Amino acid sequence: MNRKIAPLTLTLLAAATLLYAPLAQAQKKYTIGFSQLAFDDPWRVAFNNQMTKAAEKHPDFKLVIVNAQRDSSKQVADVETLMQQKVDALIISPNEAAPLTSVVKKAFDAGIPVVVLDRAVLGEAYTMFIGADNKFIGAKAGAYVAKWCGEKNYNPCNVLEISGLSGSTPAQERASGFRDGIKANPNVKLATSVTSEWQKAKAVPAAAAAFQGNKNFQVVYAHNDDSTEGGYIAAKNANLDVSKMLFLGIDGLPDKNGAIVSILQGRLGASFVYPNGAAEAIDWVDRILKKSEKPPKKVTLGTDEITSANAKAMCEKYDCEAK
Ligand code: FRU
Repeated sequence: MNRKIAPLTLTLLAAATLLYAPLAQAQKKYTIGFSQLAFDDPWRVAFNNQMTKAAEKHPDFKLVIVNAQRDSSKQVADVETLMQQKVDALIISPNEAAPLTSVVKKAFDAGIPVVVLDRAVLGEAYTMFIGADNKFIGAKAGAYVAKWCGEKNYNPCNVLEISGLSGSTPAQERASGFRDGIKANPNVKLATSVTSEWQKAKAVPAAAAAFQGNKNFQVVYAHNDDSTEGGYIAAKNANLDVSKMLFLGIDGLPDKNGAIVSILQGRLGASFVYPNGAAEAIDWVDRILKKSEKPPKKVTLGTDEITSANAKAMCEKYDCEAK
């Protein structure tokens, strides 16, 4: 009797497996690891929030965000840990290019889809890069300065540059793009360059040191708005006439401490929107993991120039927190 039941049981089992296989597959959970370089500035906070929101639209995605605290060695260890946790995809915004290159390659070589956001690594050993064109944005900032100095008839028109972390690609590209942009007006002089490593708290003393040696600056260009605000504080502290100066930066955040509101309040003169690519990254991870799509190697995100002339319209467009 057992011999007769056995084949029947096997047939039933096989049928059940076939029936439930698609169900079991539909319930598969994907763990997405996001190695974020820092959590401590408004642009990164908005970035994390948008990443979380985008991931929440996919009930089968579990997003794990880890904070490298601006430490490239910690970020290497974070990626190693995410790999040990067997993430299905890795999203990374690398603190610096060179130190993160080999661990990104390691994940990519292990077959994990790797989406690099905002700051690049060296070489091509990753699945795709999503980010805005920092050289283009830097050039736009330079062109804005060239035009502003011309309109004011400042000769020379001295610029203080406050740059980002030198090992990060946006700092390098925003510096070189800016140098191209100011060529349109030979009276613009890049008088001094200091670094804030992207941080407002470091921008204040760095700019203060520059103003101690020389008060003849007409423009403060920082690689991000936070650092421009730091430069503004230092200029006021040094009794420079900020009403005759131009302060400009990059990020164009809509929150109450961001550039749109600052331009409306008359501190910053211009900024450029720097999108983070969170929504695009989650969308691509979904297409790679579930639809086996082959992504483009690079997705370039757009920007918007914000000045006092269009700040109100930009406030509407980006739903800013103007009070
Ligand atoms: C935030 C930030 C931004 C800047 C970006 C460059 O951490 O410094 O202000 O646009 O990183 O990667």
